[in-house]
Amino acid sequence: MSRAEPLRGTITVPGDKSISHRAALVGALSREGIEVDHFSNGADCASTLDCLRRLGVAVEREGDRVRVRRNGPLAEGGLLDAGNSGTTARLLCGLLSGIPGVFSVITGDASLRRRPMSRVVDPLRTLGARIDGCDGGTKLPLSVRGTRLTGGLYTLPMASAQVKSALLLAGLSAQGSVTVVEPRRSRDHTEIMLDYLGVPLKREGEAVAVFPCDDLPGGRWTLPGDFSSAAFWIVAASLLAGSDLSIEGVNLNPTRTGLLAVLERMGLDCDVLPGNPSGGEPTGTVTVRSSSLKATAVDGTEIPLLVDELPLLAVAATQARGVTEVRGAAELRVKESDRIAAMAEGLSALGAAVEERPDGWVIEGGHPLKGGAVSSRGDHRVAMALAVAGLVAEGEVLIDDVDCVAISYPGFLDELRRRTGR
Ligand code: S3P
Repeated sequence: MSRAEPLRGTITVPGDKSISHRAALVGALSREGIEVDHFSNGADCASTLDCLRRLGVAVEREGDRVRVRRNGPLAEGGLLDAGNSGTTARLLCGLLSGIPGVFSVITGDASLRRRPMSRVVDPLRTLGARIDGCDGGTKLPLSVRGTRLTGGLYTLPMASAQVKSALLLAGLSAQGSVTVVEPRRSRDHTEIMLDYLGVPLKREGEAVAVFPCDDLPGGRWTLPGDFSSAAFWIVAASLLAGSDLSIEGVNLNPTRTGLLAVLERMGLDCDVLPGNPSGGEPTGTVTVRSSSLKATAVDGTEIPLLVDELPLLAVAATQARGVTEVRGAAELRVKESDRIAAMAEGLSALGAAVEERPDGWVIEGGHPLKGGAVSSRGDHRVAMALAVAGLVAEGEVLIDDVDCVAISYPGFLDELRRRTGR
């Protein structure tokens, strides 16, 4: 089989998925509404828009330009299908639990119905939310009967941007302020967006407070490229000899770019050129050249900053000199799939030396990868990470169920084939 061509030139990636969800949800609480360019083209964000339409929110989409505005009071949503999207289910649960008179049932696909929901349901109930659901409200479908919530302070047991954001969105229609304290900072796009739009907000260390706000101000801006999508190109370019690739207009929010810090420690040859902020988020161009990587250790303190990039880090670790250890990442077991098991199984099938641990992996780098059949487990990030592994495998790598890539990055596999010839 022919070798993959080096990655050269420039590339842009789809709009940030986390920020797209938030822009749509914030727009739904604003009569003026939001208008954003470069909205994510993934299926997850389309699920958020569909749910909002069912709630009577005005949603217009032309290509990657999306307008969302509140069109009178929210309607009874009936059955809201979040598809595969944890962010849709959890953030909507927060937003809807504080809107009196609106009753909805939130559900999702088989993967999402297995994922834990008590992490949002429990704190929302402490504010008075009336939520019920499968397994005592720990799983979807969840019924949400919107009610006037009290304010309060909630200390999260884990760093989770989804839980934090669900509480902040609920707080916008509560009777008093809602304060959320995290053990470690998770992605802070909700805080940045509310602040950018001029919604009163107080941040102090890892605590953030929002205040009741009947009608949010609107705004118009362009969303940055998704760092989590750029990450596949960053690792691919680092692994392919002769590569020199620039990814333009990427979100460089430090709560998202933990992978860059870890890869730099591993010897990544890269430059970061800051650009203009967009919607309060730092952006820029990341240029990556092929690199000779060495092993590193990643523990729980760094995990929230690269949680979605860990499958990809596992791929990079198979090509690094020495033994890489990832700890404190048990959260990966309850993502779209059990990502610890999925990557251990997939990479081992390709000849890598991966030991699965309850909360991560121990990966001995330097074993050449061979071809083989592997499973994405229907998980977009696993599918794309295994496709990157396939670039450096000696034989052909066959990944099942690759359509799931459309959850976050519909054009990825075509673009990868076009640029690398594999
Ligand atoms: C997200 C937060 C993260 C991340 C997910 C998107 C968000 O989840 O894994 O893909 O948009 O808030 P947690 O907050 O549960 O860690």
